[in-house]
Amino acid sequence: MILTQRGVYFILICVVIIGSGCKLCVVSSYSVKDAENIHTALLSSYNKHVLPEEPITVQAEYNLLTINSLEMKTQTLTTSGWFTVVWNDSRLAWTKSSYGNIEHIYASQNKLWHPELIVENSVTGLTNLGQDDIQLRIQYDGEVRWEPPAILSTSCDMDVTFFPYDIQTCEVELVSWGFPSTAVNLSFLNTHVNLNNYRTNGEWDLLSTDQHQSEIIEDDLTYSELLFSLHVQRLPGYYLMSVIFPVIITAVLTSVTFMLPVESGEKVGYILTVLLALAVLLTLFSDSLPTTSKHTSVLVIFLTVTLGLASFVIVLTVLIIRLYHKPDSDAMPRWVNGFANKCRRLICKTATVELSDDKVSRKVNTKQGGKSAWSDKDTVRPFEDHRNTNKDLAEFFDKFCFFVFTILYLIVVLGFTMTLGTS
Ligand SMILES: *[C@@H]1O[C@H](CO)[C@@H](O)[C@H](O)[C@H]1NC(C)=O
Ligand SMILES: *[C@@H]1O[C@H](CO)[C@@H](O)[C@H](O)[C@H]1NC(C)=O
Repeated sequence: MILTQRGVYFILICVVIIGSGCKLCVVSSYSVKDAENIHTALLSSYNKHVLPEEPITVQAEYNLLTINSLEMKTQTLTTSGWFTVVWNDSRLAWTKSSYGNIEHIYASQNKLWHPELIVENSVTGLTNLGQDDIQLRIQYDGEVRWEPPAILSTSCDMDVTFFPYDIQTCEVELVSWGFPSTAVNLSFLNTHVNLNNYRTNGEWDLLSTDQHQSEIIEDDLTYSELLFSLHVQRLPGYYLMSVIFPVIITAVLTSVTFMLPVESGEKVGYILTVLLALAVLLTLFSDSLPTTSKHTSVLVIFLTVTLGLASFVIVLTVLIIRLYHKPDSDAMPRWVNGFANKCRRLICKTATVELSDDKVSRKVNTKQGGKSAWSDKDTVRPFEDHRNTNKDLAEFFDKFCFFVFTILYLIVVLGFTMTLGTS
């Protein structure tokens, strides 16, 4: 009983060993002789100008290696990658068993028929993909696989409205050249752009890809076209530090002009310097913007608005300085005086409510030394009937403009950052 069981095991093991040995001898044995025979048999009478069939379905896929750059100025996307192109050529099929079970042979591109493909939106040149020495892989059932590599510079219509928080969609347009779709029909090999070998770019983050089919019609002939789209998002860190923050800080510096006393004689010099700084930033920045008026960047609008405000501040500053140096005999109209008094009362109302019981003493106080409109003690004088000197008015307008422009800049900066933030 035991012996027979052992015998059975022994026989089983023998069968397994022999079986696997047989499998091994069936599976693969590449020999140069067999490969040469296949080449001779298939290619000696092969005419590479003849289509394998009509229409022939050619499947293609784009393998993206990396995004080299996406330039705003020139609106070009530069990518490295290759296309995988697959089709069936029945002339290139062989019976495996007759040639030592060889499954693949290789032949260079210029020996075989292959589809003519160009990238239609290339900006560097419209030439056929592939070089003559690229090897095609031929499978025993006649399937041919061609992988032309390419560094592509393609045009990309960029929308810079929300720069530097922009998302761009760029396309690579692959078109069958010379063969209309009745001869060569392009279709997708895969459902997506192949990103297995993708390396990230420092400036652009690849969000997603998609692809769709299209056609080009020319002289009643349609040519099939494959479109591979890349959706990329700019990483804003660099521009945040080098453009946005400097601009916001410089813009806010503008309203500080009104804090400078007129006696210092620095007011106009200061605001001109700020204006120049803004103009330089605008120039620097506009150098890297596309020269198209299709989309206007929010950042450019912001810069222009701040530049406009700064120019306005210059005019106001000059007027205030003039007012300051005007002799008191040449008094301002009554309504200006009333306006100043009203505003001051409005601003100081809350601060003076508790102190209102000793009004009389303050009235006396102001009659004597109502010069300094800004010192704390005369903030509670009865403004209605107080007659300001020109100097007083100038100082009042300085303070008033400082408030107004600070609020204005806050609104502009908030509006700007919120517009970018919600993009
Ligand atoms: C090639 O032929 C095989 C089998 O007939 C088929 O499965 C495959 O889809 C064909 N490939 C193309 C690109 O037509
Ligand atoms: C090309 O192939 C598509 C499907 O992939 C098919 O709908 C279309 O009719 C084909 N065009 C021609 C001209 O054969």
